[in-house]
Amino acid sequence: MIMSTRTYQETYEFLKERLGHLYSDEELRVKAQLAVEVNRLKNERGAVVLGHNYMDPALFLTVPDYQGDSFELCRRAAETDRDPIVFCGVKFMAETAKIINPERTVLLPSLEAGCSLAESITAADVRELRKRYPGVPVVTYINTYADVKAECDICCTSGNAARVVESLNADTVIFLPDEYLARNVARETGRHIIVAAKGIPPRKNDTDVERVMIGWSGRCEVHERFMPEDIENVRRRYPDVVVLAHPECSPEITQIANFSGSTKAMIEYVRQTQAPHYLLLTECSMGENIAAQQPDKHLLRIYELSCPHMREITLEQTLAALRENRHIIDVTKEIRDRARQAVERMLAVG
Ligand code: 13P
Ligand code: SF4
Repeated sequence: MIMSTRTYQETYEFLKERLGHLYSDEELRVKAQLAVEVNRLKNERGAVVLGHNYMDPALFLTVPDYQGDSFELCRRAAETDRDPIVFCGVKFMAETAKIINPERTVLLPSLEAGCSLAESITAADVRELRKRYPGVPVVTYINTYADVKAECDICCTSGNAARVVESLNADTVIFLPDEYLARNVARETGRHIIVAAKGIPPRKNDTDVERVMIGWSGRCEVHERFMPEDIENVRRRYPDVVVLAHPECSPEITQIANFSGSTKAMIEYVRQTQAPHYLLLTECSMGENIAAQQPDKHLLRIYELSCPHMREITLEQTLAALRENRHIIDVTKEIRDRARQAVERMLAVG
């Protein structure tokens, strides 16, 4: 847990040392002031702030009590006894916190913080797939909305997807909605992949082969943009670069990267290794966050791809969330109860 009792001057100096190259002095002073106010109000209200690894560096370094990937933050939400829970991440993450904490208030600083993966599939799509493949267990990536989770058997995150799939001991598994994550997990677990999509009629012999994974055509709008040539170009200029790719990147990328894992796994990989240069193929704020926390590491700043949804969460919005108790995330009891089973099954797998 990160302590958040720094004074304005201490916060300003802390930010200046770590982020002085990113922001003007004036911006740093404004951000320090906002961070101090968020922390004061957080302590006054007994709130907990959870911050995803993609948060803007000034926010990420100053206000979350816990930082992490989707799995870590879900676990923290399950463990906390603080109220409200302020989720500095995107909507599906805040919804998951509400699903496992129905009695607590969960606040999301901006309702604009969506996700292209969560938007790619509906509960009706899952029901249709179940009809098409009766009896086949359904795994859903945590990057989905609560009504979709409610139709599924178990959730997973990028950190435990292969483990969750293996835990089912099933020959055929439906894995939704990220096509690239499904392809990566199918390769890792030795499965043949079939990609379904809205309105595509069943293919008669789809599941006649052994060990099949049925995916969906969802994509992350950030990670789908990385291309194998990006890695080749960088390796020509920096032959000893270590490339890390999130598993939402295509298999063409993850197969030639040096490492692929969740945001937390990537941070740990950089912490535990000593390469001359690192290239992160993921949301660009994470590179800045690693650089600020591990200043001895050299991160190449070549691809500035940021997630527009994560960018919606700012220090200003977080302060307003605490001041005005907004935006309260609600999930109906009927959906919550069914979705909770899928989330709890995942937490039991670990
Ligand atoms: P992680 O679970 O690896 O943090 O990923 C969440 C996400 O949305 C990646 O784009
Ligand atoms: Fe969704 Fe991609 Fe943004 Fe992650 S980076 S929240 S998967 S759109």
